[in-house]
Amino acid sequence: MFSRIPSSTVAVLALLASVGTALPAGLLSGFKRDDALKFNFGNEKIRGVNLGGWFVLEPWITPSIFAATPDNVVDEYTFCQTLGQTEAKNRLESHWSSWITEGDFAEMKSMGLNFVRIPIGYWSVTPNNGDPYVQGAYDYLGNALDWAKANDIMVLIDLHGVPGSQNGFDNSGRRGGIGWQQGDSVTQTKNALNKIRDDHASHPAVAAIELVNEPMGPSLNMDELRQFYMDGWGNLKGSNVAVTFHDAFQGVTAWNDWGSGMWALLLDTHHYEVFDAGQLQMGIQDHVNSACGFGRQMASNNKWTIAGEWTGAMTDCAQWLNGRGIGARYDGTYNYNNQGSSYIGSCDGKYSGTVAGLGQADHNNIKAFIEAQMVAFEKAAGWIFWTWKNEAAPEWHFQNLTQAGLIPQPLGSMNQAVCG
Ligand SMILES: *[C@@H]1O[C@H](CO)[C@@H](O)[C@H](O)[C@H]1NC(C)=O
Repeated sequence: MFSRIPSSTVAVLALLASVGTALPAGLLSGFKRDDALKFNFGNEKIRGVNLGGWFVLEPWITPSIFAATPDNVVDEYTFCQTLGQTEAKNRLESHWSSWITEGDFAEMKSMGLNFVRIPIGYWSVTPNNGDPYVQGAYDYLGNALDWAKANDIMVLIDLHGVPGSQNGFDNSGRRGGIGWQQGDSVTQTKNALNKIRDDHASHPAVAAIELVNEPMGPSLNMDELRQFYMDGWGNLKGSNVAVTFHDAFQGVTAWNDWGSGMWALLLDTHHYEVFDAGQLQMGIQDHVNSACGFGRQMASNNKWTIAGEWTGAMTDCAQWLNGRGIGARYDGTYNYNNQGSSYIGSCDGKYSGTVAGLGQADHNNIKAFIEAQMVAFEKAAGWIFWTWKNEAAPEWHFQNLTQAGLIPQPLGSMNQAVCG
């Protein structure tokens, strides 16, 4: 890929070369900074997993943590608010110290993974006065970087929740409305990113920092979001990390005209085929074709582009996937925010449980879907699966899927022909 340099810069360079002018220092230092990135994004494929549900709770990843609380606890915010600081801290400490350990990193390495994306909430980095959240996850992040380094795995630190919530999803820490871009929330977000930069950007394992996960573009002020991305880039430039920005649900090809004058940009897009009735009705071949088409779009971009989240799932049946107490679109039980759903198929017992418990047809289809996505995403800069492990959602469990033979081993040994 030729995308490390913005096309506008290429044009300037060509012009300067044509008139025999010496290169200005700014452009030269830009190239040098590119060379100082810790991962060869242009040539090596990112093959990674997310460490979901570790530093930002999600009901469907660890249902046992939520089942031990009253029904009003739907996210980390209400978890801490309802249990109170002392009890919430006790339970979270025991989760942080056990959910992922150094042994997981060794196993990731043995499976051929070269990247982890680690979601973390602003409240763990630069807490706001008056928030109910408890602190402590940031210390475990520090441990994780050392474990990654010891196992030759690179890290993308992902700011997954920002003040007010950037998308209203439970995985932003707070389910409900979108309060980001109000008050001081954008400044607070930049402060959190600057602290992550100051504390961790120079760590040898930290190859990328993501400015904010899944900002809900259609509901946000996009001009302000673009300005935030530019400011965030400016604050991170020179730190030898790829500045990672999510496509904000604008479409993965919507960012080609953006980024003039910047470099070392990594575009993160998330590929799911389970949150829309049309996609949920598709058969396996349609899912495969859809993934292959998406990979071609990713590869057409002028910036390094990764699928920073994706899954083997073709239904939204996993318990609480759409939120605690919210049903599934697939079996017509989804009913949230004035949106209903119509029955497509039964979720009964089918997609909860374990990878080992999958029926043969599901096993084969999930395996085929995963392979196609890996082929598709490696046409671009690569992929980061969501997620390494969870308690009861087999199609979302990279560790067990690999052990059960549903993930190509060695990684990269896919049949390229599945994408035509
Ligand atoms: C993953 O594998 C472990 C160990 O065999 C098992 O205890 C667990 O239930 C599995 N989970 C899923 C979702 O497959």
